[in-house]
Order: sequence, then C-alpha cells, then structure tokens
Amino acid sequence: MTAASDPVRPDLPSDSNLVRAARGLPVSHTPVWFMRQAGRSLPEYRALRAGTAMLDACQDPDLVTEITLQPVRRHGVDAAILFSDIVLPLVVAGLDIEIKPGVGPVIADPIRSVADVDALPLLDPSHLDFLTTAVRSLVRELGPIPLIGFAGAPFTLATYLIEGGPSKEHARTKAFMYAEPAAWARLMERLALSAATFLKVQMDAGAAAVQLFDSWAGVLSAADYETLVLPHSREVFEAIGSRDVPRIHFGVGTGELLPLIGNAGADVVGVDWRVPLDEAARRVGPGRSLQGNLDPAVLLADRATVDREVRRVVEQGRAARGHIFNLGHGVLPDTDPGALTHVADLVHELTAG
Ligand code: CP3
Repeated sequence: MTAASDPVRPDLPSDSNLVRAARGLPVSHTPVWFMRQAGRSLPEYRALRAGTAMLDACQDPDLVTEITLQPVRRHGVDAAILFSDIVLPLVVAGLDIEIKPGVGPVIADPIRSVADVDALPLLDPSHLDFLTTAVRSLVRELGPIPLIGFAGAPFTLATYLIEGGPSKEHARTKAFMYAEPAAWARLMERLALSAATFLKVQMDAGAAAVQLFDSWAGVLSAADYETLVLPHSREVFEAIGSRDVPRIHFGVGTGELLPLIGNAGADVVGVDWRVPLDEAARRVGPGRSLQGNLDPAVLLADRATVDREVRRVVEQGRAARGHIFNLGHGVLPDTDPGALTHVADLVHELTAG
C-alpha cells in the first residue's frame, strides 16, 4: 500500500521500483537487473562488438546506447546499467590500458613507486562529453526505466594499477599499502576524486541511481578495510553530494565487511552469494536496502535448480528493508540468455502485488 503523501509515479525513473526499493519504499514487484547483463552472453552484443576494441566501444555514444539497451529489451529487466568499464576514467585521463578478452584490464606502466603515484593524472571532466551524450541518449530512450551509472571504487582500481592486471592474491597491492601508507592514501584520494567526477557526469546527465563497484575489497581484513580503504570509498559518496540519486555499494567476498560497508554512505549494499540475504540484512543493519545475490553459476544448472534458488533468494530478501534482485556477481559469458529472461519473469511473478 502506498500512502497518499507518497504518490507513485511509475512513469518517472526517479519513482521506479528500483529507486523505491533502494529507498525502502513500497514496490509493485521486486526490481531485477543483472550485473554484466550487457555483454558476451548476448549474441546481439557479440555481433555489434565485432571488430571494435572494448575501450573504444565504451567511448562511442551510439554503441554505448545500443549495447546498454540490448538486455533491457531482451530480458525486461527493471534497470539498465551503462555499458562502460571501471578502468575507463583512467583511460580518459591518459593511461595506457587495454582490456584483453578473457583476461581483463592490462596496464602498460603499473604503479610501483611513490613517484608513480604522484604522476597519476586526474580525470578532467571536460574529456567526458562522450559520456554525457551517451547517458542523455539512454535516458531519452529508456523513458520510465532507470539508468544505473557506475564507477570503480578506489581500492579495486588501485589493484589493477599496482598489479598491472588482474590478480588473485593482490599481494603487490597489499605490500604497497603496508609499506607506503602516505603514498597509498594519496593514490586512493586521487582515485576517489576521479570516481566522483565520473559519477557526477553520469548523474548530471540523468542517471537515476549509481553503483560503486569495489569488486576486490573482499581480499582485505575488516581492520585493513576500515582504516585503509573505507574512508576513500566514503570520500566518493561525499563528493557526489546529491542524495536524490540512490547509491549502491558492491563487492565480492565481503561477508566479513558488511557491517563496515553498510556505513560507507550508500543506500543499498550489494551482496555476493556467500551470505544469505537475511543474514546480510542483520550484518548491514537497519536503514539500508540489499541487492543480490543469486550465484551466477546457478544459471548454468537445470531449470528446477534455478527456480529453487531464485525462490530462496526472494524469500531471504524479504528480511531486508528493500530488495533489488541481482546475481552475486556478473553474468558468466557462457550463460544461456534465456535463463536470465526466465529469472527476471520469475522474480516479477513471485513478488507481484
Ligand atoms: O552490463 C554491465 O554490467 C555493464 C558493463 C560493465 C562492464 N564492466 C563491461 C565489460 C561493468 C559494470 C563493468 C565493471 C567492471 N569492469 C568491473 C566491476 C564489476 C565486476 O565484475 O566485479 C571490473 C572488475 C571490471 C574489469 C574488467 N573488465 C574485467 C575483469 C573484464 C572481463 C575480462 C574478460 O574478458 O573476461 C572486463 C571486460 C569487460 N567489461 C567486458 C564487458 C562487457 C568483456 C569485454 C568484451 O566483451 O570484449
């Protein structure tokens, strides 16, 4: 039930089920979207991307618009997420970075010294006209469907910059963090500023929500996360100001960090598949909504397993102030897109009313 003082305007992205769930307001059904919903699981994406490098595609407003819309049309999800990448702000700032298919971002000159930190260029918003164009065109095309803007959090970007590419242990990153605390803080501050610039441009152009991806924060102890990382993610949220646009904060393997992440400044905490949502709601505390948390590997299983797991996530999600249904991490490339459409339909059916 919706109170008279709280009229629902489902024709506005700012009053969509996604935004309402993020604020803990009543919804007409649980909103669903999938991290990495745009991408290699879709044949129409593979066709459109053929012959264009990932980071070039991200800077072409027509391609960004079309790729972002593909999963919305196909799956009937409740939000679009801007087609981009967390390393794009670094690329626009002038760093030599390539995204190698099947590998991830590879940095030509990784940060290995204090001098490298001080030489890191800051993102200049005047170089982001392509982003404003893409977001405006998406907002126009999407009508009532909200567009989620995003940026990579300082820690996750620092891991790529210091390791030079994807890594499992993030040992070089941790070694730098412990050995050079002052330079580490400067690096994190610079990355926080760049992330905030990247997000603000998307918000100014009409993004209805934003997500901060701290994908690899789960490799840290709670103590290190709290002192060396959390303050800088908080800086991002403080710098973007406006509370009108809900903020989602996500990382993988963050079960032990959930109470801290809940206090970093977001309205919604993204949870991977390791912690059930009812337990995550207890850890995050009141006043926050949750997003998640179907294991993306479940989508490779048979339909009965998918249905059972979707029902479980929906039920456990009822413990949260608001629930945005998602996977616990991105769609795996060999996922049958039909399974994603089915999950979106099933969540809507289970939660309508
Ligand atoms: O649909 C969406 O979710 C929006 C698009 C999106 C991409 N990257 C597109 C992409 C988003 C939100 C990201 C964020 C991103 N990029 C993160 C945070 C999210 C997460 O997964 O934790 C990270 C860690 C990256 C860095 C990155 N970029 C990786 C690890 C990879 C995968 C490499 C591979 O090929 O397996 C990329 C490349 C990438 N980003 C692709 C897409 C669609 C695949 C590139 C291609 O299609 O050629």
